[in-house]
Amino acid sequence: MIVRPARNVSGSLSLPGDKSISHRYAMLAAIADGPSRLKNYSTGADCASTLGCLRSLGVTWERKTEGGNVIEVQGSGLSLSAPRQPLDCGNSGSTIRMLSGIVAGQKFGTEMAGDESLSRRPMERVITPLKAMGAEIASQNGRPPLRIAGGNLKGINYQMPVASAQVKTCLLFAGLLADGKTRIEEPLRTRDHGEVALRAFGAQLERNGNAVSILGGQRLRGIEALVPGDLSSAAFFLCAASLFPGSKLSITNLLMNPTRARLLDILIQMGLHISVTQLEEVHGELLGTLQVEGGRLKGATIAGSDTAALIDELPVLAAIAPYTEQGIEIRDAKELRVKESDRIASIASNLRAMGAQVEEREDGLKIPGGQSLHGAELQSFGDHRIAMAFSIAALRAQGETLIRGSQCAAISYPEFFAVLESLVEF
Ligand code: S3P
Repeated sequence: MIVRPARNVSGSLSLPGDKSISHRYAMLAAIADGPSRLKNYSTGADCASTLGCLRSLGVTWERKTEGGNVIEVQGSGLSLSAPRQPLDCGNSGSTIRMLSGIVAGQKFGTEMAGDESLSRRPMERVITPLKAMGAEIASQNGRPPLRIAGGNLKGINYQMPVASAQVKTCLLFAGLLADGKTRIEEPLRTRDHGEVALRAFGAQLERNGNAVSILGGQRLRGIEALVPGDLSSAAFFLCAASLFPGSKLSITNLLMNPTRARLLDILIQMGLHISVTQLEEVHGELLGTLQVEGGRLKGATIAGSDTAALIDELPVLAAIAPYTEQGIEIRDAKELRVKESDRIASIASNLRAMGAQVEEREDGLKIPGGQSLHGAELQSFGDHRIAMAFSIAALRAQGETLIRGSQCAAISYPEFFAVLESLVEF
């Protein structure tokens, strides 16, 4: 993809359904009683990987394109069918980690595999607690493929060493299929879509501070749901708007869940004007309409719980950092090294190729502000968020930028480059 420098961004848009919520709704619809209808389901390849795995587990579903992207799922109840071949999780960490909690509670064995990037990602974070619940799991030194011998799980009391919503959700799903109570305590509050979705499908959970508990054996019932627009995809356009003082965007039906919306606070502190109208709640998830106007672009320091809350938005924040007044410092972010690519290295490499000064650290980045960048030949590193983040940095560079491997944007947002093109003024 070639991205040319722009003068401004403006327009109205709505986003395809949130990736995190789409995965969870599909998985819970699969093990619910009765049918579910999931409107505005994510159009990304990752959420299609989840649907593909569910089909291999005997779940019937259909995609309807009229009236948006609607998925109709026939729930199988809590028991699925043995797959005939390994489940293909593609590039999707969410699919392999969260679905492993469901297959661990089935009466059959399942093998789960993925692409080259997924095959490098750490899985011991789900293997250790699932084994403690009674599952037998073989892996390649803690990496995919995973071979999970399902069985009778028992509830556990588990302190998660890593702040990960994927792990928390995996264990809540396993806990639903286990005997007794499962209690999970996280070191920091991570996104709560697993808890919210379980409640939407009729399960009861208990929350105490950073701990959440679920009692096994509860039945789920199918729902008719609307997936709010993906805030992590909207982040690219919000950051684009923050680059131009005259920018104006209107975004409807956007996810506003407080465990995900920290980006909006940070961008407001940096000088973007955001007003939220028409806030509503659907199945426990908040969504709203945003009016956005560009202003100043001050800097920020992101650390601790903010880093966890902004984990998917850090690539684009880092990509616009050189254009800010004071720069951006990101700390406590070593998880970025084990995402779809080593995102700290990918960001540093692309920023340097554009002529920026960057300090790369083991667990973060320090990027001074007030820099001008030039167009360059960049790599996506096969990572959707890196491809999209650098197309935003390219809007304020001098000269054209070529992003190699940009088609990987389809992992979360296939329409991204077409939508960007429609918003940009040259
Ligand atoms: C996700 C949680 C985050 C995030 C990923 C989706 C989720 O991963 O990076 O894109 O849906 O729970 P971790 O929970 O592993 O940090």
